[in-house]
Amino acid sequence: MTKFGVHDTPLQELFGDAAFEAFDDAGVGPDEVEALFFGNAMGGQTENVTHLGPQCATHVGMAGKPVQRYEDACATSANAFKNAVEAVESGRHDVVLVGGVERCTPETGKDTDEMTRIFASASHRQYEQPTGLTFPGVFALLTKRHMHEHGTTEEHLAEVAVKNHGHGSLNPKAHFGKETTVEEALDGPVVADPFRLMDCCPFSDGAAAVVLVSDDLADSFDAPVDVTGVGHATDIVPLADKETPHVTKAARDAASQAYDQAGVSAADVDFAEVHDCFTGAEVLASEALGLIEDGQGGVAAAEGRTSRDGDIPINASGGLKAKGHPIGATGAAQIVELTEQVRGEAGEHQLDGVSRGVAHNLGGDAATTVVSIMEARA
Ligand code: COA
Repeated sequence: MTKFGVHDTPLQELFGDAAFEAFDDAGVGPDEVEALFFGNAMGGQTENVTHLGPQCATHVGMAGKPVQRYEDACATSANAFKNAVEAVESGRHDVVLVGGVERCTPETGKDTDEMTRIFASASHRQYEQPTGLTFPGVFALLTKRHMHEHGTTEEHLAEVAVKNHGHGSLNPKAHFGKETTVEEALDGPVVADPFRLMDCCPFSDGAAAVVLVSDDLADSFDAPVDVTGVGHATDIVPLADKETPHVTKAARDAASQAYDQAGVSAADVDFAEVHDCFTGAEVLASEALGLIEDGQGGVAAAEGRTSRDGDIPINASGGLKAKGHPIGATGAAQIVELTEQVRGEAGEHQLDGVSRGVAHNLGGDAATTVVSIMEARA
């Protein structure tokens, strides 16, 4: 993956930076890669660039190969990954490239207000957009419900921010390298109650890519990591129609599929990368994945259970909160992170003794979720 942050590079070149790194890591050239599964969510609105797949394929030396572009809001490249896994499992392809790219910072010519409006196109056109509801508000509502049901507090949310900024400070590819404190987080300007500045992920630019190969070929590559489960589910849009908004049903359904495929339970997972676009979203995700008891997500963060040295480390990369969130690249970046952690190649933010990780990537009003499990090759 590229560093997440601010890039003034055209999208296909930024994607190429991640793709060439993936080729080098796998020891393959573009000639040996049969297809590209590609994610970009907002390029049409942010940079007037659509049909980016062939441009990226050409840039990375794969002109002529099949390329499919996926768009599922913030779950864009996790869905590309899921489809790539299925294409390889089916026998259609043996070696494919999967990845995503996005630019969301003012380098696109769009400021925070405009980018916020563009992102809101992923919410309900008739019932949500006309009210002015944007994504900080969407996740604020989900989190408020969790606070109402379970007594989660703003201090608990601040602890998630402190943890993820601390983790991100160890990751040279993170957008933010700075730590924060509970006091600073609770003192920040309100973005959408209960979220303050430190509860929000930033707008980021970046790209990520992985090479995926068939089980039969895997042993001919260095340090392969197994994909043992990929679940995918959707939930009702709009938010107001969800019966239990704080429960994020799609995440529970996708997790259940992934655990079943892998033949494991949440208790068997060593670490997780979850979609913490806002601190409250991490609380909800940690419970939906079964990693933390229902209602205890905030308390678990405050007690250090989800820190790097806790019993279930969550977002050792810094998560979206500190690593950054270039929409279409985020899901693929989680797969990169799981791969490097399981291999023991995550550098300064390496966790001790981890061999199985789970990634959770969601899109829109928690309406699309992909959950993937990766583990050391048996
Ligand atoms: N977390 C921590 N610090 C942040 C930050 C964030 N999310 N966003 C910006 N900052 C910092 C900047 O580094 C800058 O610090 P500096 O003054 O020390 O240089 C300062 O805050 C102001 O940055 P600026 O870019 O002017 O902030 P902004 O007001 O334009 O945007 C948010 C801040 C929180 C409103 C914006 O990042 C946001 O909307 N995030 C959510 C994105 C989103 O909805 N994604 C989709 C998720 S589903």
